[in-house]
Amino acid sequence: MNRKQFNEGASLQYNKKSGLYKIYRFALIYGMRRALVKALGRLRVGKITRFVVSPLSFLRKKNKFISVVGCGQFTYSTSSFFLVQKLGNCIDACFDLNADVTNTYAKAYDAIECVKFDEVLERDSTKLVYIASNHASHTPYAIDCIKKGLDVYIEKPIAVTFEQLEGLRYTYSQSKSKIYVGYNRPFSKAIIELKSKMGDGPLTLTCSIIGHKLDADHWYREPTEGTRICGNLGHWIDLAIHLIWSKKETPPTALDIFIAYGDKNNFDDNLSVCFSSDTGDLIVLTMTAREEPFEGISESIVFQQNGVFAKIDDFKRAEFQVGPKKIIRKYFPKDVGHEEAILQPFRKKQRDLNEIFVSTELMLHITDMVRETKHQSVFKFKG
Ligand SMILES: NC(=O)c1ccc[n+]([C@@H]2O[C@H](COP(=O)([O-])OP(=O)(O)OC[C@H]3O[C@@H](n4cnc5c(N)ncnc54)[C@H](O)[C@@H]3O)[C@@H](O)[C@H]2O)c1
Repeated sequence: MNRKQFNEGASLQYNKKSGLYKIYRFALIYGMRRALVKALGRLRVGKITRFVVSPLSFLRKKNKFISVVGCGQFTYSTSSFFLVQKLGNCIDACFDLNADVTNTYAKAYDAIECVKFDEVLERDSTKLVYIASNHASHTPYAIDCIKKGLDVYIEKPIAVTFEQLEGLRYTYSQSKSKIYVGYNRPFSKAIIELKSKMGDGPLTLTCSIIGHKLDADHWYREPTEGTRICGNLGHWIDLAIHLIWSKKETPPTALDIFIAYGDKNNFDDNLSVCFSSDTGDLIVLTMTAREEPFEGISESIVFQQNGVFAKIDDFKRAEFQVGPKKIIRKYFPKDVGHEEAILQPFRKKQRDLNEIFVSTELMLHITDMVRETKHQSVFKFKG
């Protein structure tokens, strides 16, 4: 794809009135600056991006020590947005398989363009690499970075097969590098407040997710990319594990898993995954993707445990009831935890990687069930 085709493709999504209306609607959710950067990420207009992201940061002294691999929409409009706002002109180098994407990202964030991944590894100035390429490439890139002694931030998922997961675990166990992971929901204000109110005992968690409608040829659908279970549902599988593991009591040893499929053409598009633990927890995750949601992905979460009841409405509003006490929160901008997740390397609190290894094992087990259109199975946690 050349630059012209790329821009034409992007502008189709942001054409005329509907494009402007979309920016307006996104501004109401994310604030004007972030909405503009999301639009610039589609249009790829270069230098102006850095001034929209943070007008003064590029006048600050440069401290370029972060490189990015995969320079698509998420890197452009989300991770780099928060990194540059926090750290200023910090992006050292960038690499994407698509040369136009590398080039437009490099212009936007004043980064060195690499034509091969190895060029990123060879840079003395790079200390930390953010990986947000296609899902199947996350593990091999992360392993190469760790072997070079670099710290690495891996966007979700961290692996799309059990072999990849074991490879990553082993390499990590042999190294001093740090791994950070892009499962962001646990970093949202709503989930942090929920955890502060939780106690012990069985919990019920239901998440209803309206996901993007993906074209038949979207790269998430490539058989090697781990289905939408690795691509999307992994977020809520990870959230469920995170909440269950937040309890002080001994975690469960096994889950009964049930799946209902609503789409005979794409089994991973419209489905409900339900699991119950041998300690009495009940989790229901429903993903629907029949039409493209104009405001992007949208989710509702209902939680109950002992005297605690919570309803989280798309991370824009939450209601907590603890016994008779009722607390209502509104979040502007919408807070799905991206900022805190992306800034983990610079914060005191990071996710426990062992918990993410557990949630990834469960996600891969469910992925295998969906590949075989299985309705029922038992998952046993490794001791
Ligand atoms: N945490 C979140 O909420 C969240 C949200 C959206 C996307 N993501 C993740 O971010 C990553 C990127 O998603 P996106 O929405 O930016 O997709 P995208 O399609 O916009 O970008 C992916 C980019 O990766 C490049 N690429 C593909 N294979 C590559 C390879 N082997 N090496 C280098 N570059 C390669 C593509 O050319 C493309 O530019 C994915 O892992 C996705 O799951 C996370």
